Amino acid sequence: MSRLHIIDHPMVQHKLSIMRDVRTGSKDFRELLKEISLLMGYEITRDLPLENVEIETPMKHMTARVISGKKLAIVPILRAGLGMVDGLLTLLPVAKVGHIGLYRDETTHEPVSYYCKMPFDIDQRMVIVTDPMLATGGSSSDAITMLKNMGCTNIRLMCLVAAPEGVKRVQKDHPDVDIYVAALDEELNSDAYILPGLGDAGDRIFGTK
Ligand code: PRP
Ligand code: URA
Repeated sequence: MSRLHIIDHPMVQHKLSIMRDVRTGSKDFRELLKEISLLMGYEITRDLPLENVEIETPMKHMTARVISGKKLAIVPILRAGLGMVDGLLTLLPVAKVGHIGLYRDETTHEPVSYYCKMPFDIDQRMVIVTDPMLATGGSSSDAITMLKNMGCTNIRLMCLVAAPEGVKRVQKDHPDVDIYVAALDEELNSDAYILPGLGDAGDRIFGTK
């Protein structure tokens, strides 16, 4: 069973509460999402392997520790997942970025795929899939399936707010994929929006409503 990690650090919780507030506009929403993504990235990379290298400090020789050549990729689910890329890239500047375009059909709430572009060696990379909202879980689950079909074997999912339904769906479909969230909310409404949630993440990031 994949593990659910809830990042309950006070700074993450504080920033998320401002994002949830209906009075918060797109500029602040975007900035806060970037900041939270960096902070969550710190946890998501906590277990990256280290190796020893020999260096000279200005004082003496030492054996120092560096990340051991682990290749990473960040894969946002368009559109809203884009809002989490810059924060992660600040932390992981050499990561490659792939894109998966999915939108939810308004009636069926099923994801519809419209774009996919990956680094050529995606199957050799640890992949962090980003999407602020894990609602029914259909979009994240489909994105992970697409990556597995391309040969990826090491995938983590990073969301901001999750509904229990979405967590259950991803855990059932992808028991090998750990999920990182800042909050596990109460439920979905009849339009499959998360309650209390933060509304439509894509619209709030890009000001399209
Ligand atoms: C939203 C959100 C997720 C998806 C979550 O995207 O960004 O991708 O819905 O819902 P699910 O877990 O039920 O699949 P949306 O379809 O609104 O597209 P957008 O990001 O382009 O606005
Ligand atoms: N997509 C969003 O942007 N928000 C939700 O609450 C559910 C799906």
